[in-house]
Amino acid sequence: MTPYWCRNTRILPECVPLRMLSSEDIKKTVGTLAAREVQENMTVGLGTGTTAHWLIVALGERVQQGLQCRAVPTSRQTALLAEANNIPLVPLNEVERIDLTIDGADEIDPQLQLIKGGGGALLQEKMVASASQQVLIIADHTKLVPRLGLFPLPVELVPYNWKQVQRIIEKKYSINTNLRGGQQPFVTDHGHYILDCHFKQIPDAEVLAQALRNITGVVEVGLFLHFNAQAMIGYPDGSIKMIGPE
Ligand code: A5P
Repeated sequence: MTPYWCRNTRILPECVPLRMLSSEDIKKTVGTLAAREVQENMTVGLGTGTTAHWLIVALGERVQQGLQCRAVPTSRQTALLAEANNIPLVPLNEVERIDLTIDGADEIDPQLQLIKGGGGALLQEKMVASASQQVLIIADHTKLVPRLGLFPLPVELVPYNWKQVQRIIEKKYSINTNLRGGQQPFVTDHGHYILDCHFKQIPDAEVLAQALRNITGVVEVGLFLHFNAQAMIGYPDGSIKMIGPE
């Protein structure tokens, strides 16, 4: 059963469908399987979110069993979880490159373009992904979309002029936006705010990302476009599919 838009799809042989899995079980299955992609002495980027949670727990178990690796976290939350699981951490500035980054996503389109930042870590996630040789996205099937934009696009902003930026974006695109956290704004690990932008559909992610980044006060946009990523997608029947370049 190949989704109509997937080209390079294969079902991993070890994943025989057993029963209908809950959403949390799917995330656990995918996260746990992805942890096996980490090889001896790798420098690995660790994602943020509920799927990455299971990756970190499973990687911690492998470290416990003797795997040597070091990890660059994509958020403070991930750093804390990795430490709790005895995974050695290294700051991004102290590595030349990251071998493999494994992270979640909020939406994945047929070209493997992504919306990320639902957990508020998009800036650091993008910095880590940009330093990575390989990026593996882990998600359940609900993240696959024919076109990006239904998930509100997170845009990271400098607090000082956030209302100005909000006005510009709302006027230019005739859309609604919400400051994440409302009266008590959510503050990112890097001291910024997040504006969730309800585009509903994004016909040209490249053009939009460029235009948003050009607005003074925008720090980063949750569109991840050129990472040549692979995606490991879990389904309720227990199957897992790899999407992307082999
Ligand atoms: C964090 O900022 C996000 O980019 C997450 O990677 C994304 O929201 C996916 O999270 P879940 O695995 O919790 O759905």
